Amino acid sequence: MTPDNAGSADGAARGPEITAASPHDIPDLARLAAETFPLACPPHMTSQAVSGFIAEQLSEAAFGKHLADPNCDVSIARPGSPQAETPQPGTPQPGTPDGYALTLFQPAPPEIARLIGTTERVTYLSKLYVRPGAHGGGIGRALLARVREQAHHRGSRLIWLGTNQLNTSAQRFYERTGFEQVGVRQFLVGGVLENDFVYALREPR
Ligand SMILES: CC(C)(COP(=O)(O)OP(=O)(O)OC[C@H]1O[C@@H](n2cnc3c(N)ncnc32)[C@H](O)[C@@H]1OP(=O)(O)O)[C@@H](O)C(=O)NCCC(=O)NCCS
Repeated sequence: MTPDNAGSADGAARGPEITAASPHDIPDLARLAAETFPLACPPHMTSQAVSGFIAEQLSEAAFGKHLADPNCDVSIARPGSPQAETPQPGTPQPGTPDGYALTLFQPAPPEIARLIGTTERVTYLSKLYVRPGAHGGGIGRALLARVREQAHHRGSRLIWLGTNQLNTSAQRFYERTGFEQVGVRQFLVGGVLENDFVYALREPR
């Protein structure tokens, strides 16, 4: 997969390299997901609920299933480097990943379909996470650009997501990047129902 951000000819520092995740990336993805998921959780969430969700939803087996799902796209961000060569498809890439995004192309559940106004297949942004030391460096925006590109290729003109009502930092990010709040939903984390805001981004026709 060719990186989205081509390097500069003069070897200057580059933005993140965003690639489609391959099976080689699964251990890195699971590690990064376990490290970053707690960042989106509200303070009242118990450590059992958090670790239960990580074990169920963010394990290597869970990422393996996602990568095998033709309606799922997983993108991974790694630091760009001036010397980096174009990675060959399927080969492991050097460098600790800084972030990842996971989307599902499918009809939204009925309660969400009512909020977004369509029962057609759309893009559900299920995960967008950047490791703590890399926040504010444009990686989230770069991953989102990749998600929008994938949505476009799949013929989806709408991206939706849920984020915890106490996760004001993510809310600011989504509002800054063009999403609008369209309602609320409840979301199960480790057996406990949490309250999310639902956001949607509609691409112009
Ligand atoms: C939310 C998250 C993915 C954003 O990624 P990021 O790489 O830090 O964001 P970027 O640097 O690409 O920022 C993009 C824009 O959003 C803005 N933004 C990001 N976080 C912000 C914040 N907390 N408050 C205000 N603006 C913010 C940036 O200023 C930037 O705007 P600009 O490009 O117009 O200057 C990242 O902070 C993260 O992983 N958070 C923890 C996990 C999480 O909550 N994920 C979302 C779960 S739904």
